[in-house]
Amino acid sequence: MNPFSPAGANIYRSKPDEVMVWWMEVDSPPKAVIAEWRDCLDAVEQDQADGFVFDEDRSTYIAAHWLIRNALSTVDGLPPTDWRFLVGKHGKPAIDIALGRPELRFNLSHTKGLVACAVGVGATIGIDVETLSRKRPAFDIARRFFRPSEVDILLGTAQNHQPRTFFRFWTLKEAYIKATGEGLHRALSSFSFSLDPVSIKFHPEDADEAAKWEFVEYQPTATHLLALAMRPLTDRPLKLSIRQVSWISAKTRPQLDDVLSEAAASPIHAALDRM
Ligand SMILES: CC(C)(COP(=O)(O)OP(=O)(O)OC[C@H]1O[C@@H](n2cnc3c(N)ncnc32)[C@H](O)[C@@H]1OP(=O)(O)O)[C@@H](O)C(=O)NCCC(=O)NCCS
Repeated sequence: MNPFSPAGANIYRSKPDEVMVWWMEVDSPPKAVIAEWRDCLDAVEQDQADGFVFDEDRSTYIAAHWLIRNALSTVDGLPPTDWRFLVGKHGKPAIDIALGRPELRFNLSHTKGLVACAVGVGATIGIDVETLSRKRPAFDIARRFFRPSEVDILLGTAQNHQPRTFFRFWTLKEAYIKATGEGLHRALSSFSFSLDPVSIKFHPEDADEAAKWEFVEYQPTATHLLALAMRPLTDRPLKLSIRQVSWISAKTRPQLDDVLSEAAASPIHAALDRM
């Protein structure tokens, strides 16, 4: 049974040109819950999980991989345990081509206390979540990883907003290099972001390519930021929905908010309204 859907319910299937984001807080779930989530993973994932030194890292990893398997099953219908993955040249996981789902894309991210994934049809996607852990922005890190224009925006931000601005740039940059799949193989100096409104600029400039990218920022909790980078594969506008998954320890089953009733996903700017 797909735990995101009640038994017997119609499985929600993603429509073309649609991206769905799912996020879940992971605040010390009971061992029994983690064990059940772990059972959903394949041997490679279980080995990876078992290799973590700290319990918190292990449970976050397990939660993220459980989440993506269930999210994929919710949009496609294959049981969560049946998904198989391949890893791209620079580490980006994709659905095993042998499963015959070339149109289905995904990406996942985990950070202290929160996991998130994006599943999409009709778009290349990358997602990043970070904890707003720093009280002060790390200007040394910004000077090292950000473009001068981004550092200028950071320095020009009111001091009490600087940590948040720092993480806005960070999550946007991560989401982009995860969408392309290049990760840190992509020179961070080869692109920069403007904020409010968010846009990307390439160096050297490529306005046509920049115009193809869409970015969404979202604040799932008071202490976490999420960014999503999407490059539609067609000219049709993308639809986006963002949904929280929460688990109930007694039943060890998640409750998914309104997944079936929100079949018509909300437009992208709806997410920005929540910022
Ligand atoms: C690996 C990297 C792609 C993301 O790392 P991260 O932000 O620490 O981790 P996240 O939790 O957001 O994402 C990790 C997940 O992305 C996926 N992933 C791994 N390599 C990827 C790639 N090249 N492209 C897209 N996704 C990738 C995997 O599913 C991975 O999770 P898993 O190991 O549990 O399977 C890479 O960008 C990195 O190492 N970043 C380090 C931080 C940094 O220096 N950032 C500078 C930005 S200003």
